[in-house]
Amino acid sequence: MNIPDLAIIILAAGKGTRMKSSKHKVLHNLGGKSMLQHLMDKTALLKPLTKIIVVGAQKDQVEIAVNGQADIIMQEPQLGTGHAVNITKEKLCDFKGNVLILFGDVPLLSQVTMQKMVDNLNQTDADIVVLGFTPEDAKGYGRLKLNNKKGLEAIIEDKDASNKDRSISLCNSGAMCIDGTIIFDLLSGLDNNNSVGEYYLTDIIKVANLRGLKCAVVEAKAEEVIGVNSRSDLAKAEAFFQEERRQHFMDEGVSLTDPASVFFSYDTKIGKDVNIGPNVTFGIGVQISDDVTINPYCHIEGAIIGSGSSIGPFARLRPAVELGERVKVGNFVEIKKTKIGNDTKISHLSYIGDAKIGKNSNIGAGTITCNYDGYLKYQTVIGEGAFIGSNSALVAPVNIGAGAIVGAGSVITSIVEKNSLALSRVKQRELGGWATKFRQRKQHEIKIKE
Ligand code: UD1
Ligand code: MG
Repeated sequence: MNIPDLAIIILAAGKGTRMKSSKHKVLHNLGGKSMLQHLMDKTALLKPLTKIIVVGAQKDQVEIAVNGQADIIMQEPQLGTGHAVNITKEKLCDFKGNVLILFGDVPLLSQVTMQKMVDNLNQTDADIVVLGFTPEDAKGYGRLKLNNKKGLEAIIEDKDASNKDRSISLCNSGAMCIDGTIIFDLLSGLDNNNSVGEYYLTDIIKVANLRGLKCAVVEAKAEEVIGVNSRSDLAKAEAFFQEERRQHFMDEGVSLTDPASVFFSYDTKIGKDVNIGPNVTFGIGVQISDDVTINPYCHIEGAIIGSGSSIGPFARLRPAVELGERVKVGNFVEIKKTKIGNDTKISHLSYIGDAKIGKNSNIGAGTITCNYDGYLKYQTVIGEGAFIGSNSALVAPVNIGAGAIVGAGSVITSIVEKNSLALSRVKQRELGGWATKFRQRKQHEIKIKE
């Protein structure tokens, strides 16, 4: 069978006022990626011939974010969802395939469901496929009125519905797939005789039925079609996204002691037999190999963690960190832009930034790489098998050779040759009996005061 071409339209011209944000609604993030990009990535898997985003206010922001991945059309003024689709005619007038219409603020719709709609249109006699769902509370949603053959007869907007219509529990998610050869003809039949004076896309169903065309419904789970109109909706969508990710990783062989307290990014990659304790957050760009343990209360972003490594509790890995195998990063350790070799340990209370550390080294408690002079950042290089004593400050740029030992409490400002001992602290003095004499003197002073 010859599969028709696909065009995707994403509607995003609404004002999004309830977000109370200077950022366009569809550019707010879910799991570290904008709602719009979630849709862009999923629709790309359907291999559409063309993608169009309809925008209104804050067009520039969307244009920068989309960066050529889709055509952008300005809808001004915004006269309703039907009008928004109609203005894409300038790009699609000669298009002969199927048109999938999505809402930019319904970001969790899966690629599987999108494909199901397209397949239904291609494989049945339906001319329009609408994505329906049954929410817990149908308030605000258009209701899907079915005819006695289970075909879709009309979509009735909540604002215009009678009490009888409002008792229908099957609702319109907003997503629709239509044969592109009839879409603009049908849209020309819309009017704005309704409570808000808008051209409703949903009225296309009535027009199609009047012309003897067939409209069908495909159903989705309510979580998948949650619409984001406010910060509170955004938090609900984030919760659904995180729940899906947690389940995914557990299914793939990752143990989560307290799943509800672990937060992933859209691109987090985790191997097998990884144990993750409670209260761990993954920012974007994290890749974890097999057999890694992430102890409680860690914040990890932009880090690659080699197999057998152990992180935390209370560790922070910042972008451009690359840990080899069996590396140990202990509590209250912060690392950024650093490459660390196999079997190296940084067990307590350290800041390591802009560094390169060889394998088998031991970085003592309280070691600080002083990488910044207030203007520029500098590198610290530590060779393999080195031992950095506790509470050392390594003032970059500095190079500590392989096998070298830095004495505890040192401030290292120049190169340490391999296998040397470097010490920069004041030599210890001891005054025998001084403490006893001191106490006697103090007690005498107190007596005089009394
Ligand atoms: C719409 C549907 C309703 C459905 C609900 C699902 C219509 C008439 N109603 O209602 O049946 O149950 O979504 O969430 O379609 N937009 C434009 N240009 C416009 C108006 C809107 O691009 O002129 C965009 C918005 O940015 C948004 C989408 O279209 O992405 C939906 O618009 P919105 O105003 O949120 O429609 P609802 O009232 O939620
Ligand atoms: Mg809406």
